[in-house]
Amino acid sequence: MSRMLPDLEAYFRSFVPARDQLLLDLEKEAEQEGIPIVGPVVGELLFILVRATGAAGILELGTATGYSTIYLGRACHPERGRVITLEQDPAMAARARANFAQAGLDKRLEVRVGSALDLMAKMSGPFDFIFMDIDKESYLPALPLCHRLLKVGGLLVTDNVGFSGAAAFNQEIFNQKQWRTVHLLSLLPQHSPEKDGLSLALRVE
Ligand SMILES: C[S@@+](CC[C@H](N)C(=O)[O-])C[C@H]1O[C@@H](n2cnc3c(N)ncnc32)[C@H](O)[C@@H]1O
Repeated sequence: MSRMLPDLEAYFRSFVPARDQLLLDLEKEAEQEGIPIVGPVVGELLFILVRATGAAGILELGTATGYSTIYLGRACHPERGRVITLEQDPAMAARARANFAQAGLDKRLEVRVGSALDLMAKMSGPFDFIFMDIDKESYLPALPLCHRLLKVGGLLVTDNVGFSGAAAFNQEIFNQKQWRTVHLLSLLPQHSPEKDGLSLALRVE
């Protein structure tokens, strides 16, 4: 008869996916500078979700140095794949551009500078996949914009939904019939923070 393993947290820390030197360098920079990146487990989750859904048009809200964007760009469709990522800090956007070039992904990844809400209001879709990772107070006002920009059948992945600033968003997307949503409480090694919530929402209407 099987039982739960002892010390599940330590056990699951042994399953952190491997990554290349560029991603390792970005993790080190993030740690030194206190930049809140998704880390290798959520990065790999994004890769798997993008690859499994065959997403080609991807929108990311919140670039920082482009760590998560590189996972999205490596996963998306090899010919048609494009990622547009939105960042309010011009210095971060410049660092992300340099990292995209180093990854050999600069043709596939585009960073736009400005408030995500303002930029999204002027954009047209449809996107196949949206990853949201900006200030948590913007999650709720971003929801109708995500709905407009995402195709029916598209996936909205939202990071850090364990923060109080995300509470109104969590309740609203859970209530809306346009979405089928799961909220996952997770242990995410090297994610900022390591214990947090992630939500996955499928646009059904
Ligand atoms: C959590 S970090 C993004 C981390 C990145 N997704 C990763 O995992 O590598 C959030 C970034 O979004 C930017 N940001 C926060 N609120 C924003 C907003 N409302 N519009 C645009 N950018 C925003 C911040 O400047 C910061 O660089």
